[in-house]
Amino acid sequence: NKELEDFVHTVSHDLKSPLHAAKGFADMVKEQFQQHIKSDEDDYILRRIVGNIDQSISMIDDLLLLSRIGTQELKIEEVDLNEIIQDYAEQFNALKNEKIKLEIDINEKLPVLHVDRGRIIQLFTNIFNNAIKYRRGKDVKIIIDSEVLNGRIRLSIEDNGIGIDEKDLPNVLNIFYRAVKVEKSRSPEGSGVGLTIVKKIIEQHGGSIDIKSKANAGTTVILELPHYH
Ligand SMILES: Nc1ncnc2c1ncn2[C@@H]1O[C@H](COP(=O)(O)OP(=O)(O)OP(=O)(O)O)[C@@H](O)[C@H]1O
Ligand SMILES: [Mg+2]
Repeated sequence: NKELEDFVHTVSHDLKSPLHAAKGFADMVKEQFQQHIKSDEDDYILRRIVGNIDQSISMIDDLLLLSRIGTQELKIEEVDLNEIIQDYAEQFNALKNEKIKLEIDINEKLPVLHVDRGRIIQLFTNIFNNAIKYRRGKDVKIIIDSEVLNGRIRLSIEDNGIGIDEKDLPNVLNIFYRAVKVEKSRSPEGSGVGLTIVKKIIEQHGGSIDIKSKANAGTTVILELPHYH
């Protein structure tokens, strides 16, 4: 699989510069022809060109991140989860996003983990970003629970968002998969890579992921990790 990963890395890397060039030209065309556009259709076409290029660039960035995660070794250290969660909440609130109110409740004092700090931050960022992106209304509430079972740490991260349909649930960990209604409306934006990255990171740490959800009834991500004393 190393060969495939190298291949993905090379291809995505090489696609980046022509895409950025295309984006530059598309922006120029958009600017120069804006005043000559007479129909809504032309306007739509122009916006779709730029939009699709933007989307491709963001997918390539995600692929590059995914392949980087696959090739670099873990740097294991003691990581305090409480701190990582607090940092995320503080950063989010510092952006002064007035539309959204974020509350993260930690039910149980979370354990210190033996993990790669950078990747665990990436993992929680992806999960929290989803809770915010797929919210219902403007109050986002995330509840985190932990327990130690048979030498493993089990963390559950529950949100109060739109939930996931039964028919989408088996697929959401697959790369590029997005729930049908999200994909159809193209909103909110995303490339369907976030949870694939989460799965890869947790498996690299000898752990596993499970997702429980129902449409309109929130989503719970359950992570299990080996517990070291
Ligand atoms: N907390 C959640 N609540 C509701 N739906 C979710 C949640 N998390 C994930 N999903 C569904 O699973 C799909 C895959 O999630 P994933 O994070 O992998 O990709 P994404 O959010 O679409 O894009 P990105 O690569 O930007 O994260 C989403 O498109 C969405 O349909
Ligand atoms: Mg996501």
